[in-house]
Amino acid sequence: MIIPFHKPYIGEEEIAEVTETIKIGWITMGPKTQEFEKIFSEYIGAKYAVSVNSCTAALHLALRAIGIREGDEVIVPAMTFASTAEIILYFKARPVIADVDPKTHLLMPSEVYRKKTKKTKAVIAVHYGGQPVDMDALKKITGNSIRLIEDAAHALPAYYKDRLIGSNGEIVCFSFYATKTLTTGEGGMLTTRNKKWAERVKSLRLHGITSDAWKRYMATGTWKYDIREMGYKYNMTDINAAMGIAQLRKLQKMMELREKIAEKYNEAFSKIEEIIPYVVEENRKSAWHLYPLRIDVNKLKITRDEFVEKLKQRGIIASVHFIPLYRFSLYKKLGWCYKDFPGSEWIFKRTLSLPIYPGMTDEEINYVIENVIDIITKNRK
Ligand SMILES: Cc1ncc(COP(=O)(O)O)c(C=O)c1O
Repeated sequence: MIIPFHKPYIGEEEIAEVTETIKIGWITMGPKTQEFEKIFSEYIGAKYAVSVNSCTAALHLALRAIGIREGDEVIVPAMTFASTAEIILYFKARPVIADVDPKTHLLMPSEVYRKKTKKTKAVIAVHYGGQPVDMDALKKITGNSIRLIEDAAHALPAYYKDRLIGSNGEIVCFSFYATKTLTTGEGGMLTTRNKKWAERVKSLRLHGITSDAWKRYMATGTWKYDIREMGYKYNMTDINAAMGIAQLRKLQKMMELREKIAEKYNEAFSKIEEIIPYVVEENRKSAWHLYPLRIDVNKLKITRDEFVEKLKQRGIIASVHFIPLYRFSLYKKLGWCYKDFPGSEWIFKRTLSLPIYPGMTDEEINYVIENVIDIITKNRK
C-alpha cells in the first residue's frame, strides 16, 4: 500500500465550477474572484477579504500595507515555512526569530516580549498545523504600537476561544496551496477589518493601479486608470477562484474528516509510551492541517530521520514541519544559531508529520497506525 503525504479532495464539484468558468471565457481575475472573496468573507466573518495568488503574496502585501521599511524588525517563530521570514527581507528589514513552545509548536508570547526592541514594527504569529497562537496574550505585548499579523496558512478553519481565525485579526493571511485544507492549486487570501489596508492591498496586488482596473476589458469598465505606487502581479485568477468556491462549500465536511483522523491517531498513540502527545490547548480548535507525531528518541534506537525512512519503506510518506529557520544558511549568515532555540531544537529532533487528508480510508488510517506502532515496537531501546 502507498499512502502519499497528501491528496487533494477534488471532485465533480470543482470540475463543474472550473469548466463553467472556462466556458464563460473570463479566466483571469473577474466575477468568480469577486464571488469567492464575497463568500469567503461571509464564511469567516471578516470585514474585508482580498484574494491573491499565494499566502506568500498576502504576507508580503500585509507588510507593505502596514508600512515596513528598511531597518525595521519583525518577529517570527522559528518553526515556520520560508515565506514567513523571507518577505521581511524583501524590505531589507530584519527577521527576528523567536523560539516556540515544545508542547504546541507555537510562538511563545514570553519570547516575543524578550525579543522586542524599539525597532520592532510587527509580529507574525503562525498558527502551526492549524492550532491558533495565544492571540490575547500576544496582543497584550504588541499593544498599539506593534502590528500583529497572522500567518493562517494552516488555519482554515480554526478557532481561538470562540473566534474563527480571520474574523477579527488586524491582518490574517491564508494559503490555498495544493496541500492546504482548502486548495485552488495556488492561491491566498488576506482578511482585515481595516478598510484602508484592504484597499491598498487590492491596488498593490495588480501593479498599484486603481482597484477596479481588471474591469477594463468589460463593457462596464474603462481603459483609463492611474498608478499611485509600485505594485506587483499578485492577483488570483477566475479559474483558481472557481475551484475555491467549490472547495469552500465542502470545507466543513473536509474539516470533520480530518478531525476524525486526528482523533483516531490520538486514541491509538495515547497508549504508546514512546510517543509524546502533541498538545492542543483547551480554548483552541485546530484545523488539523498537520498531524505532528513526536517520538521519544531517548527511548528508541533510531532517530527521527530514520523513523521517516522506515515509514517510507512501508509505503507511508511522512514529512517534517519544519526545518527551523535558524538552521538554514541564509539565516545563519544573519547571525542566528540553534543554541538560542531549545524549544524548536527539541521539536525538530522528535517530530514528523503523518498523512492526514479528507480522502483517507479507514484501511489507510489503520495501516499508518499499525506501522507507526510496529516500528516503535521493533526499535525500543
Ligand atoms: C506557515 C506557512 N506560511 C506561509 C506559507 C506560504 O503559502 P503559499 O505557498 O500559499 O505562498 C506556507 C506554505 O506552505 C506555510 O506553511
